[in-house]
Amino acid sequence: MKKEKKGIMHKAVNKEPVIWENTAKKSAGNVLADFELGFNDILEAEKRLQRFAPLIEKLFPKTDDGIIESPLKEISVFKREVKEHYGLKMKGRLFLKCDSHLPVAGSIKARGGIYEVLCRAEELAFKHGFLSKGSDYSIIKKKRFQDLYSDYKLVVASSGNLGLSVGIMGRALGFAVDVHMSRDAKQWKKDLLQNRGANIIEYKGDFSEAVTGARRQSRNQLNAYFVDDEQSEKLFLGYSTAVLRLQKQLERNRVLIDQDHPLCVYLPCGVGGSPGGLTFGLKHIFKDQVRCYLIEPVSSCSMLLGILTGRYSEVHVSDFGIDNITEADGLAVGRPSRFVSRLMKDLVDGIFTFRDEEFFRMLYHLGESEGHKVEPSAAASLLPPFLVRGSNEKTVHLCWATGGSLVPGEIYKKMLARGRAVVEGQEFDFKDNTSY
Ligand SMILES: Cc1ncc(COP(=O)(O)O)c(C=O)c1O
Repeated sequence: MKKEKKGIMHKAVNKEPVIWENTAKKSAGNVLADFELGFNDILEAEKRLQRFAPLIEKLFPKTDDGIIESPLKEISVFKREVKEHYGLKMKGRLFLKCDSHLPVAGSIKARGGIYEVLCRAEELAFKHGFLSKGSDYSIIKKKRFQDLYSDYKLVVASSGNLGLSVGIMGRALGFAVDVHMSRDAKQWKKDLLQNRGANIIEYKGDFSEAVTGARRQSRNQLNAYFVDDEQSEKLFLGYSTAVLRLQKQLERNRVLIDQDHPLCVYLPCGVGGSPGGLTFGLKHIFKDQVRCYLIEPVSSCSMLLGILTGRYSEVHVSDFGIDNITEADGLAVGRPSRFVSRLMKDLVDGIFTFRDEEFFRMLYHLGESEGHKVEPSAAASLLPPFLVRGSNEKTVHLCWATGGSLVPGEIYKKMLARGRAVVEGQEFDFKDNTSY
């Protein structure tokens, strides 16, 4: 292992924040040409979502014509506030992709989770002769579909947000839903799911244990379908469709991306599915003009360790004595997805890790400056643009706000208070975060 890599490993294992730059990154074109999924798969996934739009519009009237999409907004006030508060110079424009406010399930996981539920619903309806590709899919709201789906079960493991998306959409269609929830899952997420009629199975262990339990249970049950956060290509493609919409949003906002105006995207990373699907899509569209950075908590730096050791999903953070305990519940993952981590080693531009305090600090600043509500996992994307190397005034930075709108008001107030305490009480300690 090279000296710099060893230094990063040493810090990671000691739960110190790091910025790792992927010097082994390959050209997007070459990597994508060798990958088992291609751009056509993204287009097919988008077509499927379009077919379902008439149904989604009926089930969830708050969506835009049945398309589940979030706004893109420029966050100049936040940029100014962080610059002034910490003297950090950030070059370029700063945007927020507001999946925190994605309709239906309020997080990035809805892109994949809902997509996979729709795939399953379509597959069953085709199989039973209830539907064809040319049908008006709004008929799925009819009772005979509900009756059909009630004979089938969806099983998923989650630290919260994937469970919410599969549970909300699955129950809306009439499926039975079992959500295996890791110890990190917040009570309000469990309550919300139970209110929708999902069955919750609680674990004392972390996400990897919940996935193993859910996989085992679904194998033993007739008519059960397992949404596999560690391995699902459907989830991956569901996430990737976001880039087609993002491309249009950038164009509508007259934001040019080319060789002179690179796009830097910051993606909170848990098991890796959502940041992986987005990186895959982004590199297809913007090629090497986009740089994709992942962010993990110091306590759950599984993607970093998987790539640095070259052992991917064979390693769990606990193998290094790391506890996998973080307030960023969506990122509390000790073992990365196998197929995503293998792809990320060649495609991703770097990985940042932070202590939980920094998530709360950024959650607070975003709330105060822009009035924008995010949860701690989503706030992970907000600090890297101020620390990343190699940007200039023409760089376009995009923080992916991955969740938050469903957080109950009282709980969000506590999160803000914790962020305020960090801002008022502690030194900003990123002197140390620049080593390679
Ligand atoms: C809010 C939020 N952000 C980011 C992620 C990370 O997504 P993934 O686990 O697909 O890497 C999650 C996962 O649940 C999440 O809930």
